[in-house]
Amino acid sequence: MCDTTSKTITCKAAISRGIGELLKVEEIQVDPPRATEVRIKMMCASLCHTDVLCCNGLPFPLFPRIPGHEGVGMVESVGEGVTEVKEGDIVMPTYIGECGKCNNCVSGKSNLCHTYPFPFNGLMPDGTSRMSTSDGTRIYHLFTCSTWSEYTVIDANYVVKFDPRIPLPHASFMSCGYSTGFDSTWREVQVHKGSTVAIIGLGAVGLAVIEGARTQGAARIIGVDINEKKRTKGEVFGMTDFINPSKDSNKRISELINELTGGLVVDYCFQCMGVASFLNEAIESTKVGIGSTVMIGGGNETSGHINFIPLFCGRTVKGSIFCGIRTKSDLPIIFDKCLNKELHLEELLTHEVSLDEINKALKLMKQPDCIKVIIKY
Ligand SMILES: NC(=O)c1ccc[n+]([C@@H]2O[C@H](COP(=O)([O-])OP(=O)(O)OC[C@H]3O[C@@H](n4cnc5c(N)ncnc54)[C@H](O)[C@@H]3O)[C@@H](O)[C@H]2O)c1
Ligand SMILES: [Zn+2]
Ligand SMILES: [Zn+2]
Repeated sequence: MCDTTSKTITCKAAISRGIGELLKVEEIQVDPPRATEVRIKMMCASLCHTDVLCCNGLPFPLFPRIPGHEGVGMVESVGEGVTEVKEGDIVMPTYIGECGKCNNCVSGKSNLCHTYPFPFNGLMPDGTSRMSTSDGTRIYHLFTCSTWSEYTVIDANYVVKFDPRIPLPHASFMSCGYSTGFDSTWREVQVHKGSTVAIIGLGAVGLAVIEGARTQGAARIIGVDINEKKRTKGEVFGMTDFINPSKDSNKRISELINELTGGLVVDYCFQCMGVASFLNEAIESTKVGIGSTVMIGGGNETSGHINFIPLFCGRTVKGSIFCGIRTKSDLPIIFDKCLNKELHLEELLTHEVSLDEINKALKLMKQPDCIKVIIKY
């Protein structure tokens, strides 16, 4: 037992206080974990594009809020009912729970557990927060996590242990972006050997989809991005063709994919950029009758217009949170692949900052050579 057990901890965290405002690094109070909860001392965290959306008030404007849903840390203390992890364990906070007993968990078809639903409300499962500002104002969590804080509290059902031989930044990337992309190729659709795949948006998520498609045996993997630097990066992960829509022409993405494939288009298309309205481009890039689109990228728009005719023509669209990954059942599979050096996680890390430099990190994300920024505690 350490000397902070059962006590409130005062520490630093990055707080988002309103849409468009710079984040502020402030002292906060972190409560001790309740019966089913774990308090984690963060060791490193990373930035995902979804954090930027949440700081912009999406899908709901919850302020003040501590962002961050990628990261890893060490268990500082646990509630009296927690048996799966103990003080000193190296763990990954996640935003998907897995009870293993509800209809969805038992079906094996979905990662959206009924017992531990996706926490859109920014609160613990009991509807309260474990963090407050120095003047006592309660702070919203980001999903279950809030990893941009030196300490965070999370329900044990959202916590996953991993082999500490995995480099911490790589584990951090696997806590959202990388796993989301990689596993979508077998959890949301089953990319088959010899198939054709297109990925729109080659951030960490899209690059991981390329890696997943290559691992699944896809024959042709087409990356689409307006950032020319993603051409060589995509090739490292296994991309066979690259389209830069802003450079190549004024044509629509679906037209460019149509031309490149000689009218065949693709079996699977993954929409991995923060522009939701491009969903129609993704759908129309897939084959009539059998094509599937996986909608991963969220965006500033939370609704949009879907063209009915391409959908009537036998295509499928699958929306996805954490790409169907069941945290306790599926994450160990990707951890093993990482330990076996089958993945290119080291290619994602481009920048490192301290927590005090969080606004610099958010600026870095807009630079063309930036893929992943790590916050080192
Ligand atoms: N569904 C989920 O569970 C889940 C999980 C993680 C991330 N996401 C979402 O996935 C998306 C990607 O995340 P990321 O961290 O890789 O983001 P990112 O910003 O690093 O990558 C987006 C890429 O899209 C490219 N892009 C932007 N506009 C484009 C256009 N018009 N045409 C072609 N390419 C374009 C950018 O150049 C960039 O390379 C985000 O919307 C994020 O919110 C969803
Ligand atoms: Zn469940
Ligand atoms: Zn994310």
